[in-house]
Amino acid sequence: MAAFRFTTTFLLLALLLIVNKAKSQSFIGVNYGQVANNLPSEAATAKLLQSTSIQKVRLFGSDPAIIKALANTGIGIVISTANGDIPALASDPNFAKNWVNANVVAYYPSSKIILVNVGNEVIMSGDGNLISQLLPAMQNVKSALDAASLGDEVKVSTVHSMTLLKQSEPPSSGIFDPSYGDVLKGLLAFNNATGSPFEVNPYPYFAYRSDPRPETLAFCLFQQNPGRLDANTKINYMNMFDAQVDAVRSALDAMGFKNVEIVVAETGWPYKGDSDEVGASIENAKAYNGNLIAHLRSMAGTPLMPGKSVDTYLFALYDENLKPGPTTERSFGIFNSVDLTMTYDVGLSKSGNDSTGSQAPAPVTVSPSTVKAPVEPPTEPKKGPWCVPKTGVSDAELQASLDYVCGQGVDCSPIQPGGACFEPNTLAAHAAYAMNLYYQASGQNPSSCDFSQAAMVSSHNPSTNGCSFPGGST
Ligand SMILES: *[C@@H]1O[C@H](CO)[C@@H](O)[C@H](O)[C@H]1NC(C)=O
Ligand SMILES: *[C@@H]1O[C@H](CO)[C@@H](O)[C@H](O)[C@H]1NC(C)=O
Repeated sequence: MAAFRFTTTFLLLALLLIVNKAKSQSFIGVNYGQVANNLPSEAATAKLLQSTSIQKVRLFGSDPAIIKALANTGIGIVISTANGDIPALASDPNFAKNWVNANVVAYYPSSKIILVNVGNEVIMSGDGNLISQLLPAMQNVKSALDAASLGDEVKVSTVHSMTLLKQSEPPSSGIFDPSYGDVLKGLLAFNNATGSPFEVNPYPYFAYRSDPRPETLAFCLFQQNPGRLDANTKINYMNMFDAQVDAVRSALDAMGFKNVEIVVAETGWPYKGDSDEVGASIENAKAYNGNLIAHLRSMAGTPLMPGKSVDTYLFALYDENLKPGPTTERSFGIFNSVDLTMTYDVGLSKSGNDSTGSQAPAPVTVSPSTVKAPVEPPTEPKKGPWCVPKTGVSDAELQASLDYVCGQGVDCSPIQPGGACFEPNTLAAHAAYAMNLYYQASGQNPSSCDFSQAAMVSSHNPSTNGCSFPGGST
């Protein structure tokens, strides 16, 4: 009987892991820039994407050929309106309706359009007229999607440059330039009210360019480095990507928008540059993108948003040979557009025949033959270890871990009202339950009890009266 229960538990855990693994790459997207005259056919691009673990593609426009080629692939598609369409979208609801009908409704749902970006880096354009019409344009696009009953499926947002930040170091002091305050407040209220993300383009590459020291390079490339201490939070940042994303988090939080999600609409590293463009090399591009992908797959999140990977669109799928230059601008392609080979291998191949992809953090596999079956049905079963929050972890970290775990399809019903572990009804108790649940579900894989260093493995049973924490048999 005990053996039977054990096997059932094992099967459930195994199933859960498979589900987790299947879900686990949905945060890796790629930008498909088309300023080039040597791009492959749309069908070839669709096929290439399907051979990778890339799940989403961001377009800078709404090219129908690629939208159609991606039909029935399951790949999420982000489309954009041109900046030049913003005045008409803002002033004429019918124009917005026609735009949505022609570019979304015509292809949905076979082409899985997930987001419409209204313009690109509009605030940085400095065009006051355009800036003032951005929010009304987004509102009209949103209304048109709602009218087509697609308001829940297809979100509306816009993409921002990191230069909106007045300050980004240390990350906890991240703050937007107050001169954009009013316009940002309106856009963020829209993001918040409609559940759409705040999209931003962090490029650690440019941080290195402005401070080209070896230790900065290592920090930017996710390589061994001493880290950079944020004295306010006492967090030692280990890479520039996390530091930049958390600076955006701090800036959003400072404006009161703690619930607005961040999406990295672009990030990348050029593999080739002019002689005055330091850091552009195959080796560095491979290190940045490969280590970034592994970091995202680890589900560590960032220190301020632990346990959850930020949706990230790599820049870019191919080189764009018609961009004016300098050379770096044309040389961000991860794949060669002419023969579709990898420019360098960052571990995106689905076949697993690449240097990092299949190894980046190996999903836990529990094999029945290696699990020791309990000899006797023990009266007082030997249990543990458990995963418990560390002391002094902030509520934000606890909440992020809780949200993350319960968003993974594990059974959080015990900590919901009426559940055996709902009491004590505190964030700390619920997060502790969730963290441990996740850890046990992973087969007690230590890396599943990290939550960006908010948790640790413990031999102390955290169960309280009436609430028994899952604890794997040992
Ligand atoms: C964000 O949206 C929530 C739910 O709609 C609302 O309660 C909250 O006040 C909003 N926050 C801000 C800062 O507008
Ligand atoms: C794996 O990659 C190597 C080198 O890139 C190649 O020679 C080999 O044929 C590939 N194997 C498979 C099974 O695709």
